[in-house]
Amino acid sequence: MSGRNPKIVVVGSAYVDLAAKCSQVPMAGETSSGTALSFTPTGQGLNQAIEAALCGCEVHLVSKIGNCPFGLFIKSILQQYYNVKTDYLFTATAKNTGVILTLVDTKGENACVRYEGANIALVPQDIDAAEQAFAEADICLIHARLPKEVVIKAIATAKLHGKKVILDPAGTLGQPGSEPGVSELPAEYFSVDVLIPNLYEAGMISERSTANIRTAKLVGSDLVARGAGAAVITMGKRGCMVVDRTSADHIPAYEIELVDHTGTGDAFAGALAASLAVGDDLRKAVKFASAAGAIACTKFGSVDAMPAKAEIIELLQKQEPE
Ligand SMILES: Nc1ncnc2c1ncn2[C@@H]1O[C@H](COP(=O)(O)OP(=O)(O)OP(=O)(O)O)[C@@H](O)[C@H]1O
Ligand SMILES: [Mg+2]
Repeated sequence: MSGRNPKIVVVGSAYVDLAAKCSQVPMAGETSSGTALSFTPTGQGLNQAIEAALCGCEVHLVSKIGNCPFGLFIKSILQQYYNVKTDYLFTATAKNTGVILTLVDTKGENACVRYEGANIALVPQDIDAAEQAFAEADICLIHARLPKEVVIKAIATAKLHGKKVILDPAGTLGQPGSEPGVSELPAEYFSVDVLIPNLYEAGMISERSTANIRTAKLVGSDLVARGAGAAVITMGKRGCMVVDRTSADHIPAYEIELVDHTGTGDAFAGALAASLAVGDDLRKAVKFASAAGAIACTKFGSVDAMPAKAEIIELLQKQEPE
């Protein structure tokens, strides 16, 4: 693999995060004065693509935006600041770009609207149109908060080209239109090489709602028994459990001062893909990803919290977890 950067195709959501600070979150019919406004690109696919690019990979993001200024904003930030390739950032015809609209008052109380927009207009034909990116990639990373048929098509396309697939199943639970409490994942989701749920999601998927650090091994084994090559169950500051057909290993978290948890899972996923793409084995890649997740916890925001490769290596060298 020497002589070229590792290549990753990321399939996942993209939004603009619009946040206003206000004196008081208004009730229906009220207006309150804003004191600050920020707008930043976000979304699990976008964050994960940025993280993989910050780790030195050549990254294509397969996602969908609207034909609107927010869409152009996302595209230009990805291209200009992060060098993420946007050839397969498709444009929806009848939906605006996804937006997460948040109001926060002086006490920190907030109200939020998530508009999925173009994210739910991604269709399997878009995956067909992006096939070249799958064919050239070393690793395919998918975040499942997308229509199921798109996720299934992306898994199938990556496998057709013999590529390793990492699937973050977050967001399949409680997706728009899904029945509350129904956690059944399509069988195809278990055909991936590495499934990376957090502990709560893993419990929902395996129908062990009492999943905890002591039962994580068991839950991971359930996921592997259902077909996944390996399960990496993330458990926040308690580290993660890596389970495959031969063993189960607890990888402790790095010790950090928590500032903001936003984006942590995405830093973990993007860095995991980057490490696997250079040929690291799964446990080594999970340690690298854990350092990325830990660093993301030390910074505010999502995109702004994604660490660069040099920061990750510095933490790895400073603190070797037991
Ligand atoms: N407080 C923390 N201290 C150190 N490392 C952490 C902390 N929180 C998370 N991490 C690291 O990041 C990994 C992923 O975090 P976590 O399990 O919280 O993911 P998540 O629930 O998917 O997050 P998200 O809500 O962002 O999707 C953890 O396994 C751990 O290695
Ligand atoms: Mg997550």
